[in-house]
Amino acid sequence: MSDYIVTNGRTIAGDVPGLRPADRRESLGNAVDVEIRDGVIDRIVPAGEGDPDAFAADCRYDADGRLLTPPLIEPHVHLDATGTAGDPSWNDSGTLAEGIEVWAEYKKDITVDDILDRATKTVEWYASHGVTRIRTHADTTEPSLTTVEALVELKSRVSDLVDLQVVAFPQDGILTGESNEDLLSEAVEMGVDLVGAIPHNEYTREDGVKSVEIACDLAEKHDLPLDLHIDETDDPGSRFTEVLASESIKRGIGDRVTASHTTATHSYNNAYADKLISMLAESGVSVVTNPPDNSVLQGAYDDYPRRRGHTRIDELRAAGVTVGLGHDSVLDPWYHYGVADPLDAAFILAHYAHMAGRGDVEVLWEMLTAANAEIFGADDYGLAEGNEGSLVVYDSPDGFNALRRQAPRTLVLRDGKPIAETEPSTTTVHRSGGPVPVDYKR
Ligand code: FE2
Repeated sequence: MSDYIVTNGRTIAGDVPGLRPADRRESLGNAVDVEIRDGVIDRIVPAGEGDPDAFAADCRYDADGRLLTPPLIEPHVHLDATGTAGDPSWNDSGTLAEGIEVWAEYKKDITVDDILDRATKTVEWYASHGVTRIRTHADTTEPSLTTVEALVELKSRVSDLVDLQVVAFPQDGILTGESNEDLLSEAVEMGVDLVGAIPHNEYTREDGVKSVEIACDLAEKHDLPLDLHIDETDDPGSRFTEVLASESIKRGIGDRVTASHTTATHSYNNAYADKLISMLAESGVSVVTNPPDNSVLQGAYDDYPRRRGHTRIDELRAAGVTVGLGHDSVLDPWYHYGVADPLDAAFILAHYAHMAGRGDVEVLWEMLTAANAEIFGADDYGLAEGNEGSLVVYDSPDGFNALRRQAPRTLVLRDGKPIAETEPSTTTVHRSGGPVPVDYKR
């Protein structure tokens, strides 16, 4: 915990309550000074009204009119598989199924140290991009629980950078292997934070339904929330999200349940989608969409035209369902690219979900910040007095240009302490009249 002041930062929109309208500019947010005491936001005042002299010289940062947001949150990633892309082979078909096959081959010889090395590096990338909370899935299926052991250990190893949640995730299914159900139960005793399942990967519809019930029973028994990979397929006959919503309504646990991916909603007929979305809204279950992976995995079995495969973000939000935005994979068999930047995921979503309108900018930022915070269960989150003294400054004047350029995060502050800084690079073009610095800002 420490004291720190950021002066002249610009919020996404007029989203800091209590400031005068005169301190806001249309399409830009409030220009503010943020004073942090003992790791907590003490005061947010109009730019110029803060008191930099009251802070030590190395605890002052002039944002110079740049964008300032609360820290980013990664609600869905697989840190056990990160950094393995191409090893032992690439996913040439681009399907979820081949990704699972490649990963199954890799994990035969996996070790705790191997996972810790790769995952730590990816967490550092995340922190450099302004992320201070990460929810990772840990594969609990055969042959061992090495992944769970490593990622539970990782929590303390990276606690100086991020809060890490670990989901016990039966990648191959709960009922597809003789010991998978026992392994999932054992994993839950090892210090994980949530229980997962993957009903669309079970052998039959009946097993898929049963797997949801098993996961819910286990979560209730250990008083843990749930985060299920669910209906991550183009098959419109895959209808397990309705089972999860139904169980959540009957058990009254919806506010602790996340449905990840739900890409099949893209392929459902509208009548069924409407029924399902109503159930999700009633249940309180949240949804996380993962654009990098699902932009390449979905439609892989299609002839032309090839479907996109994101969940129905606009309809879910209109119904009042919280929809978060995750990355899912960073350099693994399901998605070969990635630098662990949530703005990459948002940029992809802007294209693949037809969210490239100007009005979508605030929606994308709301998904990246407030929605992800709600899903993560982040307390004291957001730019308001009394909340955590954590924020991100971007080399951009506003949210639109930050997305357009995936602008460098010049400062990442966590509880009043800098955890990452980036010096933006410069580029020069050599014109006939001499060198000219390139300004990508608009
Ligand atoms: Fe995933």
